[in-house]
Parts: sequence; structure tokens; C-alpha cells
Amino acid sequence: MTRLGLETEILDSRVLERTAARFREAGVVLPTFAEIQDPAGIPPRIAARLSQIDPDAPHPLNLFRVHWMNGADRRTAASVPEHLVLPEALTGVPAKIVVLLGNRFPMIRAHKVLAAYGCLVPRLVTGQFDPTVHRAIWPSTGNYCRGGVAISRILGCRGVAVLPERMSEERFQWLERWVADPSDIIRTPGCESNVKEIYDKCGELDRDPANVIFNQFCEFGNYLVHYTATGRALEKAFEALAARERGLTLAAFVSATGSAGTLAAGDYLKERHGSRTVAVEALECPTLSENGFGDHNIQGIGDKHVPYIHNVMATDFVVALSDASTDSLGVLFDSETGRAYLRDRRGIRPELASALTSLGLSSIANVLAAAKTAKYLGLGEKDVLVTVATDGGEMYGSERAKALAKHFPRGFDAIAAAETFGRHALGAGTDHVFELGTRERNRIFNLGYFTWVEQQDVPLDEFEARRRQGFWKDLRSLVPAWDERIRELNARTGVAEKL
Ligand SMILES: Cc1ncc(COP(=O)(O)O)c(C=O)c1O
Repeated sequence: MTRLGLETEILDSRVLERTAARFREAGVVLPTFAEIQDPAGIPPRIAARLSQIDPDAPHPLNLFRVHWMNGADRRTAASVPEHLVLPEALTGVPAKIVVLLGNRFPMIRAHKVLAAYGCLVPRLVTGQFDPTVHRAIWPSTGNYCRGGVAISRILGCRGVAVLPERMSEERFQWLERWVADPSDIIRTPGCESNVKEIYDKCGELDRDPANVIFNQFCEFGNYLVHYTATGRALEKAFEALAARERGLTLAAFVSATGSAGTLAAGDYLKERHGSRTVAVEALECPTLSENGFGDHNIQGIGDKHVPYIHNVMATDFVVALSDASTDSLGVLFDSETGRAYLRDRRGIRPELASALTSLGLSSIANVLAAAKTAKYLGLGEKDVLVTVATDGGEMYGSERAKALAKHFPRGFDAIAAAETFGRHALGAGTDHVFELGTRERNRIFNLGYFTWVEQQDVPLDEFEARRRQGFWKDLRSLVPAWDERIRELNARTGVAEKL
């Protein structure tokens, strides 16, 4: 199963020897999954050094910031993950909607650097990826590949971003600053949902033995890092709220799904709190809800296939939302006109109105889907729905300009703000909310056959094994085994002791 990154034993000790030498030279220490889940366990020596380091620099110690517990300044540590609690005046529902803020992550200001680390490390510590020889290929819709390129640069190896040409300009500008060579940015045809074209390109690149493809859609490191770290971070935010108000219930976890890595946090929360797991997709590309297809602009999600690491049989709802809603509310949240409307007419606290710039397009989809789920289930004020803001509005300035031209050709004034809020936020109803029973789960699960068995050559029995929940539970034993390998590699380099 090396192809899916499930190894825990060392496969090539010479590769590991070279990796250790490179890390010694570059001053790299790898955090364990346990430290990423609970950064309080990061050695004090390292934690103290971090305060001197720019969170946006390609500094090896920034690997110790690849977690949810960075403060608002992105330098200091927080005891509870940075989050917003959205009130009824904003969401239209009495249930509390809690959003964890991904733009506190280092280097890329999005949580996808977590997924990149989760996919890379198992291969690194088992001697399957040689940073002195290999190029790391990061197929993505823009954030995961930025995370991969950032980590590759820290490790001193080539990182190649493969992403659709129509992703936001901000993603490309960032990549241009970070790649070693402009040819390390590969633009594939199409938009967000054209993942098949990315796979085809990776198939081509895979023929060169110097390339190692880190396919986030099927690497279980992506599932496990989110299960461990994002699951616990959401739980901490819920616990903080529950400590202030008695009787709260964790009703649901909501996540727009691209690789389905983030959705893994739903398994963690379901096991501990009995919460429902809600997968969100674009109405313009309703793959999970209707086996549908199409172009859309909720960047980062909805890729016309069912990822291999999506635990479909544990997913309770699919909610589909239009990109007209996310594009329009993106303009509202990021304009002074929109903020003034929220403050003056909706009574939203000024700090909260300003903080909404931390919601990128998929984050807005998450909030709307949470509100739709709350309406569908009739949730009340003691119910909490948790979700994430994968990235912030800063990644979409260029998209807002396009949205203004498309949706607001006469300009975005106070009337447009009110219309937008009334239509897309308060007007979000229970349409396109699909509650999944066994039949629907099987339908979605079976759709994955065409990608994984027919196109990607996964053996049928391996594909089928994921229908059972025992398969997903068994995966969790990989985490302590990988942590053991990480500690061994760190001990071999001796870098941590010299800090
Ligand atoms: C902005 C954004 N939102 C949501 C997602 C989906 O997250 P996941 O791949 O963990 O399902 C991504 C993934 O790249 C993303 O970039």
C-alpha cells in the first residue's frame, strides 16, 4: 500500500540517511502529529525561538506553527483556536455557528499547509521520499499546493504546484514568490472542478521517477492529520463555549469538501459528541447530491469526483450552495458598505463585522450550509454547529472585482448590500439539504468506483474495504507509529538538541 502512504516501516534506510543529512544542514526538526494536535507539548526551547520568527518566512521552525493554535498575530500561541461565534442577527438561526479561522496558519494563511504536512511526513520518515533527489508534486486547486511548496522549500527540495489555470490570481502571485523556478507552477486547463485534468497531468509527471506525487485526494495522512488536529481544535472551541454556557450540544460539523481531508474532523467529533457530519458542495457542481458536474467558483471544493479519503458512510448530510451566494456575500463582507449595513441595520458588533474578512469563499459556503442545516433540523440556541474558514478574504481580492462586475453592474451600494444579505444569507432555506440514509450513502460511495478503480487502478477489495467503519478506525493506529518514526528521525539529525 505504499501508493496510498500507509507504510509505517522504513522502506529505504539509505534514503533516510540522506534525509537526515539534509535536515541537519537545513536545521529541520519535524513536529509530531501529537504536537500538532496539542502544541502545548512543543518543547519549550522551540516555542521560545518561534517568537523571533516571521510566520510568513520559509523558516524550518515554522513547521511548529502548522496547527490551529496560533494567536491572532500568528506569532504567539493561543489556548483556544482562533474562532468566531456567529449570532442569529448574522445567520438567521438561533443555533450558534462557530468558525475556526484558517488564516492564522503560517506561510500560506490557510489550513491546507496542515494537509500538505500530513501527506508528506509519512513518506519522509519511512524513506519513500528523498528530499535530495525527488521533486514533490502537489496536485491541488491552489491552497494545498501552496502548503506543499512552502514545506518543500523549507526542506530544501523542489516543490511543484499543479493547479487549474482559472484559480484566483492571489494563489498564483503567492506561488510566483515561493517556487524555485517558474516551471514549478503547472497550470492545467479549466477551473475549480477540473480535477480530472490535474490527475492526467500528474499521470504524465509520474512517469519520471524523480517525481513523487502527493495526491491529497487519496493520501490517508490528509485524513489522519485532520482527524487528529482539526477534530481536536474544533472540540476545544466547542469546550470553551460550553464552559461559558451550560447545556450546549455539539449538533453538527460542517465542511465544504475538496479532498475531503477536513471532513475527517467530523469522524473525531461524531465519536466523542455524536455530532452529525455535513458535506458541502457547489450547487453548480452537485456531484455528491446528484452525481452532477459543472463549473463553479467556490474555490477549493467540489471536484466532480468522490475522494478516496472521504468516509462517505459516516457522512450524514450533503448541502449544496450556489457560488452566486458566496461571491455576493464575499463582496458584502469585504466592503465598507457591506460592513456598515451589518453594523447599522443588523446590529452586528463592529469587531465581528470587520472579522468577517477572515472568511474566504468556501468559508462563506460553510456558514450558509450550517445555517441551512440548523433550519432543516430545527436547531435551537443550545445547539452548536462547528465549521472552518479554510482561508480568508485576502485570497480573493481579484475574485471580488469579478463578482462586482458580474452581480453588481450598477455598483455595490447600501441597497445592494441589503438585497444581498436578504437574499443569500437570511433567505438561505432548506432547499438542497440532503439527509443521507444507507441508500444515498451507498450511491455516493459507489460513484467513487469510476475514479478510483476504473481510472486510478485501485484494487476493488481495497476500494470496498472503506465501506466499513472498522477500516477508518484501524487507520488511527498509524498516527502513533508515524510519530515514533518522526522522533527517530529527529534524534538522528540532532538538530533539536542544538537549538
Ligand atoms: C479554500 C478551500 N476551501 C475548502 C477546501 C476543501 O478542503 P479539503 O480538501 O480538506 O476538503 C480547500 C481545499 O483545498 C480549499 O482550498
